[in-house]
Amino acid sequence: MKLVKHLANLGYGSRKEVAQMFRAGRITDARGEVLYADDQPAHADIRVDAEPLDPPPGLLLMLHKPVGYTCSRKDQGRLVYDLLPPRFRLRDPLLSTVGRLDRDTSGLLLLTDDGQLLHRITSPKSELAKVYVATLAQDLADDVAAQFASGTLLLESEHTPLLPAELEALAPRRARLTLHEGRYHQVRRMFAAVGNHVEALHRERIGGLDLGDLAPGQWRVLGEDERARLFQAAD
Ligand code: URA
Repeated sequence: MKLVKHLANLGYGSRKEVAQMFRAGRITDARGEVLYADDQPAHADIRVDAEPLDPPPGLLLMLHKPVGYTCSRKDQGRLVYDLLPPRFRLRDPLLSTVGRLDRDTSGLLLLTDDGQLLHRITSPKSELAKVYVATLAQDLADDVAAQFASGTLLLESEHTPLLPAELEALAPRRARLTLHEGRYHQVRRMFAAVGNHVEALHRERIGGLDLGDLAPGQWRVLGEDERARLFQAAD
């Protein structure tokens, strides 16, 4: 692919703007030699204003989503994309969230521009565990763990029972819940189905991947080892 298109696809500007950057000598190789729009150097050897390029397509990143941000590109209010470099919103292929977290939910959110990977993570077939910690309005009833594990619980206005889910009580009004599917507002609706109410919700893990020491609002690109960890069972 021609360099001008590669840079435009990475969000550095329209093709016209990127062509202008070439003319201004802002695109160089690692030694500082000026590159031209038709050159085809390796991605790792390209610099814009002496800075290495953003990661190439096939990007997977994790974000510690704070409460108050929406998983959307164009809703009103604060969006998860506001927490990333503005260029990332202009990439082609598009960078999408892997599933969604509610505006009022915090925690681990993945974003990728790799459609196959997105499908592999979200496909019910992968049954990738998603682990949430919920703070509840009322004490946990004794039989909630059994109801969630039963494989027969029905959410309101649905006809297919939920897959078994594991509940671990952390305190009378706090629980860790592990799901193996992802339905709309699933955790909140599960607790509503047993007469409780979720006051705060945080996702701490997907598959074998957790947030580590990533602070709310921070993000980072995931490497090969972490991609592999995603598909491994948690320790
Ligand atoms: N379940 C919910 O209810 N909300 C989320 O954001 C994620 C899972």
